[in-house]
Amino acid sequence: MPSIAEAFGLRGPRFVAPADARVVDNVDRGLDELEARLDAHLRVADPVADAVTRYLLEAGGKRARPLLLLLTAHLGSGVDDDVLSAAEVVEITHLASLYHDDVMDEADTRRGVPSTHTVWGNSVAILAGDLLFARAGQIAAPLGREVAVLQARTFERLCLGQLHETLGPGDADAVDHYLQVLADKTGSLIAAAAELGVVVSGADDAYREPLRLFGERIGVAFQIVDDVIDLSADPETGKDQGNDVRAGVATLPVLLLAKRDDEASARLHARLESPADDADLAAAVAELAAHPVVDETIAEAERWQRSALEALAPLPRGTVRRGLETFAEHVVSRTR
Ligand code: IPE
Ligand code: IPE
Ligand code: MG
Ligand code: MG
Repeated sequence: MPSIAEAFGLRGPRFVAPADARVVDNVDRGLDELEARLDAHLRVADPVADAVTRYLLEAGGKRARPLLLLLTAHLGSGVDDDVLSAAEVVEITHLASLYHDDVMDEADTRRGVPSTHTVWGNSVAILAGDLLFARAGQIAAPLGREVAVLQARTFERLCLGQLHETLGPGDADAVDHYLQVLADKTGSLIAAAAELGVVVSGADDAYREPLRLFGERIGVAFQIVDDVIDLSADPETGKDQGNDVRAGVATLPVLLLAKRDDEASARLHARLESPADDADLAAAVAELAAHPVVDETIAEAERWQRSALEALAPLPRGTVRRGLETFAEHVVSRTR
């Protein structure tokens, strides 16, 4: 199995110099240490709560947010105790949000396993998410007021993103609404990961805002690509094909389809909105996956990637900046 850094392209030809390899080795070692900490810190005395809260952690996950945090921490002290705690805070906050998201989206599969609520029911899945949010808060508090506030603000934005997605655009432009939802539900936490790496490692404060901006923009790209991956039949995604459509979440491919004025697109859009049956929905999702709106959606993700890269201009050239550029490339080209 490739290491996490390798999976994000950080073992490629741009990182062969000894100084680069040192940073990437540190990141991978830090991520190994993070797993041990998560394993230790997500124990709950109650055996049922313990089984449920550890369930998705043990199912896998890419660890994209901790990777980003450990990378930006190399603008300061590198990996140390506080940096690893901050990485835990970010990954546990993310993990908690997945428990709640799968209830909201009625998703059957997550990280390649049956989603939590299909095993234990909605109430237990929601409470497990709450327990995890509480743990994230407990790990953030000793890192100081600034980190605790940043985590809480991020959590608030994440909830508002999910809320606004649930409520829909109302009278607002549907694409503007969609992009704001993405910035809130996904961009906020990826931005927090990039920013926390700077804050906790004691790096120059001048890097803070550029990295927050980078994280937020690449986070939007990450979620746009996630919405394309949702259309994929590949079992490697670990999720069910077409779940967004099934849950009534209008993602960019569907919004772009709605704007088309050709007859075939209008028919496909109508089938996605009210399919004859499950088989018809599955066939319509497969058709959408092959429709030109998918390329337009990826082009939008690439625009966000480019603006994320622009935010890196104030950073010194070196391994971290190149690592962030590579991370950004991976975000838009990934298939899982
Ligand atoms: C899934 O996030 C939810 C989104 C915000 C798109 P990831 O794609 O990072 O999920 P894991 O952690 O790898 O399972
Ligand atoms: C993820 O959005 C939102 C979170 C912040 C948890 P999605 O609902 O699109 O994510 P997946 O596809 O289920 O991972
Ligand atoms: Mg979902
Ligand atoms: Mg969702």
